[in-house]
Amino acid sequence: MKTAFISISLASFILSANALVGSSWSVTNVPSTGLTDITFPLTIVEADHISGYYFAQQFGFVNSSIGYTGLQPRPDADGKPVLHAVFSSFIDGSTTTDKNCAAGADGGPGVSCSFEWNGVYGRRYDLEVKFNGSSVWVGTVIDTVTGARIHIGSYTVPTNAGGIQSSQAGFVEWYPWNSYEPPNHCALLPYQKTIFGNPYTTHLLSVGTQSPSYEYGDCVGQVAFQTVEVLGGVENNCGFKGMTGM
Ligand SMILES: *[C@@H]1O[C@H](CO)[C@@H](O)[C@H](O)[C@H]1NC(C)=O
Ligand SMILES: *[C@@H]1O[C@H](CO)[C@@H](O)[C@H](O)[C@H]1NC(C)=O
Repeated sequence: MKTAFISISLASFILSANALVGSSWSVTNVPSTGLTDITFPLTIVEADHISGYYFAQQFGFVNSSIGYTGLQPRPDADGKPVLHAVFSSFIDGSTTTDKNCAAGADGGPGVSCSFEWNGVYGRRYDLEVKFNGSSVWVGTVIDTVTGARIHIGSYTVPTNAGGIQSSQAGFVEWYPWNSYEPPNHCALLPYQKTIFGNPYTTHLLSVGTQSPSYEYGDCVGQVAFQTVEVLGGVENNCGFKGMTGM
């Protein structure tokens, strides 16, 4: 059955070996055709200003594969913090004409879009994924302090893909370990603390909930992981101050 096949392939994404922390989300009252918009609040409460962490939310398209949106720290530039926002599709046959986007996602089919700006640590950014009414899905970062809308990118998915499904999961990953894991790597994990906020949508009577985070992957029990429910979402932290992952 097609649906069964899709859930198995999603499970393999969620259980990708090197992610550290997962956190499921769900939205009530989603029509069978899926949502045409969903927004994921995300706050990087604390993380070193270095590349390596990816704080992401996955979303699934009805009758199709998944996409991600999320944030990654970057080294400061000219004394100012820099955040890297990601918006991607893993659906084979996705296309784009957006200057922030390119073909391919994590070495497989799809489209990846990214944009860097002087994002502020400790500030909540709302990552909006929205169908724009003429076949294009648009990823936008909303700055919840200034109200600014920052364009990440846009893509078109094949016509058999419907809207966004009612549940999926976010994750925290230290991505340099996807290509090389140093000896005793878990003890080298840099510290991070993030809040995955409850997702929301403009769809009538739909309410989003983020579930408590959990550990998975090959460092379970070794990275000082903690999770706690906070107003509007779920906070998690892991890793060790002063470490660089190497
Ligand atoms: C998903 O696939 C089923 C079975 O082919 C079909 O009936 C349904 O209309 C599709 N949904 C969307 C949103 O395309
Ligand atoms: C949707 O996005 C595409 C690509 O940016 C654009 O050409 C089109 O005009 C947009 N449609 C609407 C309704 O905004």
